[in-house]
Amino acid sequence: MPVITCIEDLKALHRARTPRMFYDYAESGSYTEQTFRENSTDFARLKLRQKVAVDMSGRSTASDMVGLPVAMPVGLAPVGMTGMQHADGEILAARAAERFGVPFCLSTMSICSIEDVAAHTGAPFMFQLYVMKDQDFLAGLIERAQRAKCSAMVLTLDLQILGQRHKDLKNDLSAPPKLTLPTLLDMATKWRWGMGMLQTRRRFFGNIVGHAKGVTAGDVASLMDWTAAQFDERLDWDKIAQIRDMWGGKLILKGILDPEDARIAADFGADAIIVSNHGGRQLDGALSSIRMLPHIVEAVGDKVEIHLDSGIRSGQDVLKALALGAHSTWIGRAFIHGLGAMGEAGVTKALEVIRKELDISMALCGERDVRALGRQNLLVPQGFATEYGA
Ligand SMILES: Cc1cc2nc3c(=O)[nH]c(=O)nc-3n(C[C@H](O)[C@H](O)[C@H](O)COP(=O)(O)O)c2cc1C
Repeated sequence: MPVITCIEDLKALHRARTPRMFYDYAESGSYTEQTFRENSTDFARLKLRQKVAVDMSGRSTASDMVGLPVAMPVGLAPVGMTGMQHADGEILAARAAERFGVPFCLSTMSICSIEDVAAHTGAPFMFQLYVMKDQDFLAGLIERAQRAKCSAMVLTLDLQILGQRHKDLKNDLSAPPKLTLPTLLDMATKWRWGMGMLQTRRRFFGNIVGHAKGVTAGDVASLMDWTAAQFDERLDWDKIAQIRDMWGGKLILKGILDPEDARIAADFGADAIIVSNHGGRQLDGALSSIRMLPHIVEAVGDKVEIHLDSGIRSGQDVLKALALGAHSTWIGRAFIHGLGAMGEAGVTKALEVIRKELDISMALCGERDVRALGRQNLLVPQGFATEYGA
């Protein structure tokens, strides 16, 4: 096994082992990718405050997320087509999360279905909902998540319409991939991936095929068209309230980036909000999540549990988000790199890398309990939160 020291190592292996169309699908942002880049570079601008001669024995990264105990406050974010990064990807990632003691959130656009993931895991997972126009399909999806005893619903609010990602158009992205000369040549060099895919029957959008009217597994074009046409552009707070009533369980609102929206979400009674710009995949030109976080903490920090994603690639990043007021964090690409690199072992490795970095950096900041992290641990550059006014 190669020596893995950081998420970058997993990323390099992911790139080498996964067909280009799927690696590019993960490693891209919309349009100029400015927001995608700044999600990471803004984390780098925050500095940690070193403290010495503090007893650092008996440290703990344990916390909770929407009332559920977690080994560290880092969940695996919903990522569409995870089962195309590695055969059976959603099942493998869910298992790794379960063994590690962190939440896994299954995307509506997963390859393995809700039922399939439930059958192959022991702990409840969360389900991410995209609001679709087909009301029967939507109601069915919510019922299926209820039957699978999902522990929370993550309702994504920042994708009623798709931000364009140039690489996906150039690569003619589809699941499963269309068999053209360039894709066949590319796949020929990714033999591990190909062997896995030949051995699994999970190669289509498992939550959709067999559940949505007029969509068949054999017709990839119809599946991609159906999906693209289904996102409900009319999603508003009334619709969110209807979904809350249909679901009846814990509700996390994902994709909040503005303090005004955060106030509405808090008044609405969400169990948590995720400060997110979808990993820079939607509104290119938006500020990074980490820069918007202080404004949102100021607006609703005492009213609702605040989570953050977008740009986290290390335990130090997790530390910075928590110190700036997030209760918890989520990772997307960081675990996808692990999955594409080495399957379930790779996801576990990604979580181990992040926990170790978090634990050691926390100790060197003079903190023993992850829940005690705060502004006292950070050096924040002038204007970090205030440079851009509304
Ligand atoms: C390849 C990819 C697919 C994604 N698919 C979904 C999805 O189906 N539903 C969703 O709510 N968010 C989706 N996201 C966004 C993630 O849940 C998360 O917000 C984002 O990855 C966080 O940024 P990070 O990758 O920098 O950690 C996706 C992200 C990536 C990279």
